[in-house]
Order: sequence, then structure tokens, then C-alpha cells
Amino acid sequence: MLSPPPLALYVHLPWCVRKCPYCDFNSHEARGPLPFDGYVDALLADLDHDLPLAWGRTVHSVFFGGGTPSLFPAPEIDRFLQGASARLRFAPGLEVTLETNPGTAEHGRFEDYRAAGVNRISFGIQSFDDGCLQRLGRIHDSAQAEAAVKLAQDAGFDNLNLDLMYALPGQTPDMALRDLERAIALQPAHLSHYQLTLEPNTLFAARPPAGLPDEDQAWDMQEACQARLAHAGYAHYEVSAYARPGRECVHNLNYWRFGDYLGIGAGAHGKLTLGAEQRIMRRWKLKHPTAWLTAAGSVAAIGGEQDIAPAQRPFEYMLNALRLVEGFSLAAFQARCGLPAEAINAPLAEATARGWLERDGDRVVPTALGRRFGNDVIALFLAD
Ligand SMILES: C[S@@+](CC[C@H](N)C(=O)[O-])C[C@H]1O[C@@H](n2cnc3c(N)ncnc32)[C@H](O)[C@@H]1O
Ligand code: SF4
Repeated sequence: MLSPPPLALYVHLPWCVRKCPYCDFNSHEARGPLPFDGYVDALLADLDHDLPLAWGRTVHSVFFGGGTPSLFPAPEIDRFLQGASARLRFAPGLEVTLETNPGTAEHGRFEDYRAAGVNRISFGIQSFDDGCLQRLGRIHDSAQAEAAVKLAQDAGFDNLNLDLMYALPGQTPDMALRDLERAIALQPAHLSHYQLTLEPNTLFAARPPAGLPDEDQAWDMQEACQARLAHAGYAHYEVSAYARPGRECVHNLNYWRFGDYLGIGAGAHGKLTLGAEQRIMRRWKLKHPTAWLTAAGSVAAIGGEQDIAPAQRPFEYMLNALRLVEGFSLAAFQARCGLPAEAINAPLAEATARGWLERDGDRVVPTALGRRFGNDVIALFLAD
């Protein structure tokens, strides 16, 4: 039986000062003044339209992602959060994250975000090496990044995430470790450490930068950085995520545990379990900000909708759950997918025989080898 899991709210804010050459997110360079006010009105209309999918359910986290959400003035974030909490039940003390580009941090801004109800800031730092930052086309240098983090801390934020990328053009393992040292010195609660990937349809994919480390070098960097982070008290809990005890990201954990989420804003994706109908559905919104803005609040803003059929659920579940160091329990698999545990007997047996997964009673945990060959492991769960 499918039972509705915890619910999260994702809010997409699609503009950036400048488009980074490696980025394939739905983010658009701001040309001229941005329609903040109209966008927040449209977000609330979009939420109204999605509400029937989430009647009576409690929201456990809100995530403003982008794009660069920190381009939005605090009063607009405040207006959205007030409107959303009037429409949906917010769990007491729920996690509210705002992604922030250090190049947009102004004095006084963080106090106002905090007063609006934001309690977690996720900074896109990428590197503390000014040469690397330039090659990545970032709008800030390392001094600005450090200053922005300190401004947030001075405003009382104690739940900070720093995004770093590694395997950067021209980066040696020592340089990657030096980036980490500077991040650790700022004492964030959480660190995301992403391997730079060349995403299709980006400038970097069209013209790859010189000096990119190869896969083996990238793996060595990842292992050295993971060891350094463990030493500093950051537990590795997901492929790219590290946290101090109890500071794992509630919002992202819900994705990885195959929880539900409403997705509002341009190009946002949602996943909802409809218990009464025994369905799991995905809904996504029109990608282009102007098209979405015009249609928000009506059926025309929906870019598409699709059920996750029972046969597809094991693969979709593993795509998320096998990213987690803790793996998953068979009981959780059954509750989230509405399938008997026997549905995955064959791929589980094969992955275990290959040394990719380990069984401990009800729990299934990826081994170090399984984490390295994650895509091969997940592929075993594809429907025929
Ligand atoms: C949507 S961005 C949010 C932060 C904000 N837009 C910024 O860049 O400052 C989320 C994070 O994804 C990571 N990211 C983006 N493109 C990537 C790529 N091609 N490879 C690896 N990580 C990437 C970056 O670390 C980035 O901070
Ligand atoms: S600032 Fe962030 S979202 Fe915007 S283009 Fe750069 S990486 Fe992408």
C-alpha cells in the first residue's frame, strides 16, 4: 500500500546576474529590472493551482532554489512565505533554505531574510581560488565569498551550507584540499562537494576548458577531500553531501528518501503520492520564466504530467535512495513504492553478488564499490 510520505515545497527563482558556462540549471541572465513583485504573485497563484494535490498535508521544508534566489529582496521572500503558510500547514520550526550567490550579498540583507523566516543559507562558493573562480565565470572572488559567509553568520545564521566544486580546470589535488581548508575554517554546518560535470548544452560542453582532471584523478581528489572532511567532523551522508551531526539537509534528504514535493515557479518539478488513488505522479511547470509568468495559476502553466507506473518505481526509487550512505530499508521501499519487497529480489541479489550492495536484515546499503559504480547499480533496477 502506498502511504503519503513527508511533503516539501520547492520554489524556483530563475534569474542570475550572469550565466555560468558550466551551468545547465533553468537559470537566465537578468537583462534589465526583474519583475519580483509579479513573480511572487505568480508563485502564489501557482501554489493555489497545485493545492488540491496536497490537501491536509504538512510541509516539512521549503527550498528557494535557482537561479539566484538571493537576487530577490527580503520583503518579497517574506510575502511569499506568509502567503504559503496561509495556504499550507507548515511544520513548527521547518527548514527554510535560500540559495545565495556570494556576489549578491549586501549588508543588511541577511538580517531581513532571517526576519522573513529563512533559517538556512546555501552559498554557491565553488572555489576559494581566484584563478579557478575566473575560469568558472563567477561574479565574485574568494574574499567576497568569505565576507558574504561572515555577513550571514553575523546576522545569526548558524545553519549554512557551502557548495564547492572539484575537478576544476587546472586544479590539482592540493588545490582542491586548499579550497576545503578555507571552507572548513568558516565552520559551516554543511558542505556540498560536487564534481564538475560537463552538462550538454552548456558553453563548457561545447568548448571544454583546458586542464580538466580525468576520472581517476577526480576520484582521488574526492577520496582525499572526503578523508579531510571526516577528520574535521563532517560525515559523508550522500554522494556529494557532508554534514555536522544533525545538520543534514532536511529538504534534500526528503528527495533522496523518495518523499513528496510540490514544485512551483518556472520549470519546477513536483512529485506527489495520491494515496486514495494509489498513484504517484510528477508534474512540471513551463520552463521559460516569461511563459510561466503569463500562465501561472492556470492549467496552461503545467509543462507536463506523468504517473510513475509501478514497474518504473524501483528504478526511480534507487536513483535517489542509493545516493545515500545509509541506503534504505525494505520497509521504506514498500511504503514509498507501494510494491512488495519481492519486486526487487532479482536485482538485489545480483547487486549483492557483485559486491555493490550489502544486506543487513531489512537494510540495504551501498558498498564503497557500489558508490563508485552508482549508475551501473541503479541500471539493474530498470524495468525490462
Ligand atoms: C543552482 S546552483 C545554486 C547557487 C547559485 N546559483 C550559485 O551558483 O551561486 C547549485 C549548485 O550546483 C552546482 N553546480 C552547478 N552546475 C554544476 C556542474 N556542471 N557540475 C557540478 N556542479 C554544478 C554548484 O556548486 C552550484 O552552487
Ligand atoms: S549563478 Fe548558479 S544558477 Fe546561476 S548560472 Fe551560475 S551556477 Fe547556474
